Amino acid sequence: MPTDHPRKPLISGNWKMHHNHFEALQLVQKLAFRLSDDDYDVTDVSVHPPFTDLRTVQTTLDVDKVPIKLGAQNCYFEDKGAFTGEVSPAMLAKLDVALVIVGHSERREAFGESDELVNKKVHAVLRHGMTPIMCVGETLDERDSGNTEAKVAGQVRAGLAGVSAEAVAAMVIAYEPIWAIGTGRNATPEDAQATTSYIRGVVAEVAGTDAAAAVRIQYGGSVKPANAAELMAQPDIDGALVGGASLEADEFAAIVQFHRH
Ligand code: 13P
Repeated sequence: MPTDHPRKPLISGNWKMHHNHFEALQLVQKLAFRLSDDDYDVTDVSVHPPFTDLRTVQTTLDVDKVPIKLGAQNCYFEDKGAFTGEVSPAMLAKLDVALVIVGHSERREAFGESDELVNKKVHAVLRHGMTPIMCVGETLDERDSGNTEAKVAGQVRAGLAGVSAEAVAAMVIAYEPIWAIGTGRNATPEDAQATTSYIRGVVAEVAGTDAAAAVRIQYGGSVKPANAAELMAQPDIDGALVGGASLEADEFAAIVQFHRH
């Protein structure tokens, strides 16, 4: 691991729609057993279970004093009201949720979330003292037609609209090329570095150079123990948003421990 990396990495496990609350309990206990203070000293770690598992995982982390941060996968932007089926950011904050994934490509593609909606959610998460992990990324078509930068720049600009430089500095952006999600096909470290560096430049334009230097940018898309160290070694990659490999304690722990290699 490069010792000159300016930002503490954040490795996040997005469990997506996997694991009921019994399975979640087992997974988080196994994970806690495999990770140690040496890991938490150099890497922040978060898990993002489905909503129905949050209370169980929160209680376990709290009782066992495990410094894994609790995360959610989504939320609505209103605090309360007639929004059947939605979960409010106020409810998540009350459960000690620290980080909320916003605008994951699966939500954008399968549930039609627009840049404007993502921006409202970013504001809502911040309003409740939580940290948004705002996801951006291009499809394979967009990549093949040379539109990666235009796509992510548009998502970053729209998603951060009206957010203060101070808040941007403390946020997390996840660069997840859609063609690399769940496909076993990760971006090369060089490609991922090029796009995360480009994203940092866009953040500098919208929020200033201090915010751009501080914002953490994760890479996501088929991160595994075998490719984590090389990806994390890139100067503009400050962690990973991990899907499939976060469902197994051994694999996820090995990714968190990339710094040992
Ligand atoms: P995979 O690690 O399964 O490719 O998923 C990435 C992802 O979408 C995390 O949010």
